[in-house]
Amino acid sequence: MHPLSPSPLTSRAHGLAALVRLAGAGVLACLVMVVLATPASAHAVLEGGSVFDGQVLDTPPEELFLDFNEAVVSPRGGLRIFGSDGERVDEGGTFQTDDAPDIVRVALQPDLADGTYAVTYRVTSADGHPVNGAFVFSVGAESGSGDQLLGQVFSSGADRPWAVLAAIVRWVTYAGVLLAAGAVATVAWMREQLDGDDQPVTRVVRRAGVAVLVTAVLGVLLQNVLVGGDGLASLVDASGLQSTITSFVGISAIVRAVGSVLLLVGLRRALSGPVALAGGVVMLTSLLLEGHTLTTGPAAVVWGASAVHVATAALWFGGLVVMAMELRRRRRSDDPVGAGRLVARFSSLFTLSVVAVVLAGAALSWAEVRALRALTSTGYGWALIAKLVAVLPLLALGTWNNRKLIPALTARRRRSARGGSGQPVIAGGSDEVADRAAARDAAWATLTKTVRIEALVVVLVLAATSVLVALQPAAEAAGITGAFSTNQEFEGLGQLSITVDPNRAGANEIHIYLLSEVGRPLDIDEGVTMTLSQPELDIGPLVRTPTLSGRGHFVLQGPELSVPGRWEITTEVATSRFDVASTVTEITVNP
Ligand code: HEM
Repeated sequence: MHPLSPSPLTSRAHGLAALVRLAGAGVLACLVMVVLATPASAHAVLEGGSVFDGQVLDTPPEELFLDFNEAVVSPRGGLRIFGSDGERVDEGGTFQTDDAPDIVRVALQPDLADGTYAVTYRVTSADGHPVNGAFVFSVGAESGSGDQLLGQVFSSGADRPWAVLAAIVRWVTYAGVLLAAGAVATVAWMREQLDGDDQPVTRVVRRAGVAVLVTAVLGVLLQNVLVGGDGLASLVDASGLQSTITSFVGISAIVRAVGSVLLLVGLRRALSGPVALAGGVVMLTSLLLEGHTLTTGPAAVVWGASAVHVATAALWFGGLVVMAMELRRRRRSDDPVGAGRLVARFSSLFTLSVVAVVLAGAALSWAEVRALRALTSTGYGWALIAKLVAVLPLLALGTWNNRKLIPALTARRRRSARGGSGQPVIAGGSDEVADRAAARDAAWATLTKTVRIEALVVVLVLAATSVLVALQPAAEAAGITGAFSTNQEFEGLGQLSITVDPNRAGANEIHIYLLSEVGRPLDIDEGVTMTLSQPELDIGPLVRTPTLSGRGHFVLQGPELSVPGRWEITTEVATSRFDVASTVTEITVNP
């Protein structure tokens, strides 16, 4: 069969295009689910403070502080205290001291009356992710329903529309940065093959540069809303803006804006000139200045892999866009020889990019996930799976292009070149000539279409990425690289919340919180035991009595978990003279 025979090639392309559309729709649905179903959790976790949920204090406090597991940044109104009438009773002006960056404090109005108070907090973690939460405490005695008060002053879902908007802005940022930086680099690398009119590519790159500039500003404003928590009022809150701009998120946005301005200025001279190229590099670098790159180890691996990942992702995406535009131009001018040469050169660019993106992506995935159980038990893991599902059609299309289309086109180029004119050799009768013309058209059409589909799939991959980077890394969420924490049902009692810190073989602090079904601390101050065992190594049962540390809160400090592996912790609570409620928690202690 003729290598450019139209029917099998185009029908396969149609089938493939349908498959890609289907995969795209699936991935999009996955993304929507992830965005809607998973709150943007982050790294900082509230570990304690001067009051805890449900505590009843004898005397009114003058100041209140909260203690997080890592350094946090709090906006001015990051810690707010509300009375049972919903009015603020703090003096405003949350503050932190240099020697305790993990602690946030606020002064309270003098002589608080007896009754129930709500505490709401909002801080930014080390990687730039805003975290918020709320609980209640009382002075003297409880007054009214704490849950009702919390409902009045704190809505955990209020940030969701802003978080979705921020994810969309991040998506456009990724698409703009990769397209602009990648297209400029591709044109510089392939200058000889792209000797035609570069105005159309310049126009697209300019638009991408403008989009990056606009999203840099929008990103900072949205971060301000997510950190400030006052909706539109936070959008332009000057003191909040000041701290957002000096945070890593702000610095990254400023660097990106500078890069986009450099790019736009550079484009006035030459698409692939040094100024435009520098703009592209600065924009790409800005992506490394925020997010998980800052907080995940080993730092050298994560920084190196991130740099390679974004640089080669840019070459891939920018290259695809340049190729799609160039192919359209050559198709119009009916230049199969030039197109064949172009496609062959692009093919080596794509092979290099694909291998590097996948290897660097695998290294990043290892750093953020670490174990299979973290992949399937966390929002991050599922977002990464959605991203991989989106990448698969890309790899399939790329392989198909390499194996089928490009050999077909380059074979045509060789035949044409033998004809010596740059045009196909016309050797047969008029039917054969018509067949060849049709075959040629079909091959052009298929190649142009698959390149466009590939570019579209990259846009979907970037959508998954924009969700991924906002979630708590899987390894951390699953307690592999940080403290282990879980909430489980406690039959006959309500709920058990348990934290094992640092969850490494050796001395650990195990906190258990006995909660009602709606999550309020239970008034239990004795009759609690913990039994620890490691069934695989036949260790235990080690029976211990944890110390009371607050209402329904018990702590066990010690070296019991000194061997890594799967442990079972049985918590038993005497609910009457004769009855005991018990529940088992399984945890994997890290080496
Ligand atoms: C096998 C394929 C891939 C894997 C396993 C992978 C994995 C990852 C991982 C784990 C991250 C880190 C996210 C975080 O900070 O938590 C990441 C970031 C990213 N990926 Fe991929 N990826 C792959 C393919 C791609 C492709 C094809 C593109 C685009 C062409 C892409 C673009 C990006 C971008 C823009 C980032 C964000 C970098 C940053 O902001 O620091 N990835 N990827």
